[in-house]
Amino acid sequence: MTGKVAVVTGAGNGTGRVHVRRLADEGADVVALDLPGTLSEQALAETAASVPAGRRVLTRTADVRDVAALRAAADAAAAEFGRVDVVVANAGLCDAPGPALTIDELTWQRSLDINLSGVWNTVRAFVPHMPDGGSVVVVGSTAGIRGNANRAHYAAAKHGAVGLARTLAIELGPRSIRVNSVHPGAVGSGRPLAAEAIARLRPDLAAPTEADARQALSDRNLIPVPWVDAVDVSNAVLFLACDESRFVTGTELVVDAGLTQKV
Ligand SMILES: NC(=O)c1ccc[n+]([C@@H]2O[C@H](COP(=O)([O-])OP(=O)(O)OC[C@H]3O[C@@H](n4cnc5c(N)ncnc54)[C@H](O)[C@@H]3O)[C@@H](O)[C@H]2O)c1
Repeated sequence: MTGKVAVVTGAGNGTGRVHVRRLADEGADVVALDLPGTLSEQALAETAASVPAGRRVLTRTADVRDVAALRAAADAAAAEFGRVDVVVANAGLCDAPGPALTIDELTWQRSLDINLSGVWNTVRAFVPHMPDGGSVVVVGSTAGIRGNANRAHYAAAKHGAVGLARTLAIELGPRSIRVNSVHPGAVGSGRPLAAEAIARLRPDLAAPTEADARQALSDRNLIPVPWVDAVDVSNAVLFLACDESRFVTGTELVVDAGLTQKV
């Protein structure tokens, strides 16, 4: 990644921060974006502080629902670095699960706006600054390649993002710009599971423990681990971002410990 410039949305927290660090570890300079607001600015500053010395990180706030804000960030990135070689459309939200017939319109629309239109907005803002040979990586989910009970709003948006990525691969292929998606299963946060999650994972037990919930998660996977780590997702993003995947485009890379194949 040395000499390349990568943009990561949703870079203030979670896996987005790890993507920034992993890309920078391999030599990239990074444009790190997250939601407007003081908390996000602090989070982005922590992300920037986490990269190795010598790498440059430009932080900006922009809601991925706001294409004008993304275009302003893209202009700032172009002014700072001259171009953008890699776009990682990572920002996403998975909220308020419930059966498809009961999801309220606000929740449905917010999921489509962030998880699907947000990817489109990110690409429309940054790809004009991308030279031939660049790479776009859309962060999806296993919910983007199979149904996901109680998360229809999320699954529909993430499936839509796959259609967008495949279509962009066709349209941008003549410029040797590659477009692929990465599909994580459950990603460990490094924090203990919330009581609500433990109860949801083990409805069969009156007083389930965290170990019970971990076991339920492990049982869903082919490889007996409850979740993958954020860096496992980042390694997949890195592969698709760099030239080692130079002829890989229009495809989905699943990082899920075998979840999709087992259930
Ligand atoms: N964590 C998991 O288990 C998991 C599993 C599969 C897929 N994913 C996907 O990975 C990606 C990152 O998720 P995460 O787990 O790191 O989540 P996270 O909540 O820890 O981080 C998401 C980041 O996106 C930002 N964001 C949210 N809405 C935004 C908006 N409208 N505009 C700009 N930024 C916004 C948040 O501020 C946050 O920094 C998402 O696309 C998510 O769907 C996560």
